[in-house]
Amino acid sequence: MIRILNVVGARPNFMKVAPIQRLMAVDSNNFDPILIHTGQHYDERMSQFFFNDLGLPEPDVFLGVGSGSHAEQTARIMIEFEKVCLQYKPDLVLVVGDVNSTAACSLVAGKLWIPVAHVEAGLRSFDRKMPEELNRLVTDALSDFLFVTESSGEENLRREGIDDSKIYMVGNCMIDSLAGFLEKAEQSAIMQQLGIRDGEFVLVTLHRPSNVDEPEPFQRIFSALAEIQKHLPVIFPIHPRTRKNIAGFGLENDVKNLKNLHLTEPLGYLDFIKLQRHCKFVLTDSGGLQEESTWMGIPCLTVRENTERPVTVTLGTNEIVGTDSAKIIDAANRILSGNWKKGEIPPLWDGHAAERIVKIFKNKIKDEG
Ligand code: UD1
Repeated sequence: MIRILNVVGARPNFMKVAPIQRLMAVDSNNFDPILIHTGQHYDERMSQFFFNDLGLPEPDVFLGVGSGSHAEQTARIMIEFEKVCLQYKPDLVLVVGDVNSTAACSLVAGKLWIPVAHVEAGLRSFDRKMPEELNRLVTDALSDFLFVTESSGEENLRREGIDDSKIYMVGNCMIDSLAGFLEKAEQSAIMQQLGIRDGEFVLVTLHRPSNVDEPEPFQRIFSALAEIQKHLPVIFPIHPRTRKNIAGFGLENDVKNLKNLHLTEPLGYLDFIKLQRHCKFVLTDSGGLQEESTWMGIPCLTVRENTERPVTVTLGTNEIVGTDSAKIIDAANRILSGNWKKGEIPPLWDGHAAERIVKIFKNKIKDEG
């Protein structure tokens, strides 16, 4: 039996850990999974909604670290998580994705000689100005199990000198959740509530510091949205960081004046999936949405200069359009005129990634037992 601390911290972590936590919990002969929530995201809509929708149990431990500068947040997570490791003495710490909680907990575990498993290892944007890229590099360097979602991840890790024996191509746990909850999401009434119809709206999310912390890039994207909303209603569930910054830039009225641009509070998982599945296209700077839209065959415009998930471009429905207004509008027009690639689902994005991960741990227990 192995005791595993499964770590979640921020919104994009919950759907990746949920299938792993669930499989471990039902296999109590082999696993003692302890769910740790760092509290990096704490608003009800950024956290509790997801626990409810995904059927995640209440965390065994909540660290309540909250917001702060990167150093403050990372340090607070480390201080609190070290206490948890010393108390629970786990055999393994499992982290997912690339948020500050991921890197902070890996570093704590590594220094206590506790093996680390990283789900979604090996992704690289090659842009060290992204905080997530630094989190990915640190976490992968410290990990003993590197679970990879796409072939670029394997290549990147090999190039960085990570031993092949630690690298496992398992597929995508976020897609496990998506595949598993798609039917339930269909029952969401969010489209009626918003008064929108199948295929006749655009879904937008923006929260990357590089897009929303400075007025210029945000203005450029906003100009494109002003044009797009002339053709179709635009639904924009707004991240707390983005809302705060729009107010700070003095752009609240400009946003309100666009009659076909609808800002909503951050949505729960099921409502959001429903919108993503039925929109005309997604415009986003998120990592996860690039993958989810590819899996559902929905066109995706990524308003960034790069992606750490290149398979969504080479195989999927994603295009990297940057933040130039004219380029965004051109790409949107191509979608609206039906001129877009159909895309394919990447290998092993089949809803069974968590099963593969759990099996790898089980084999390890057998080998060592
Ligand atoms: C974090 C992740 C990012 C991920 C995103 C998903 C890092 C470095 N970034 O970015 O990779 O894509 O989550 O949302 O870990 N805030 C609230 N309520 C909350 C959480 C945040 O109001 O529940 C506000 C706070 O003002 C905070 C700001 O949002 O300062 C940013 O939150 P933070 O966790 O630092 O980063 P995100 O931008 O959410």
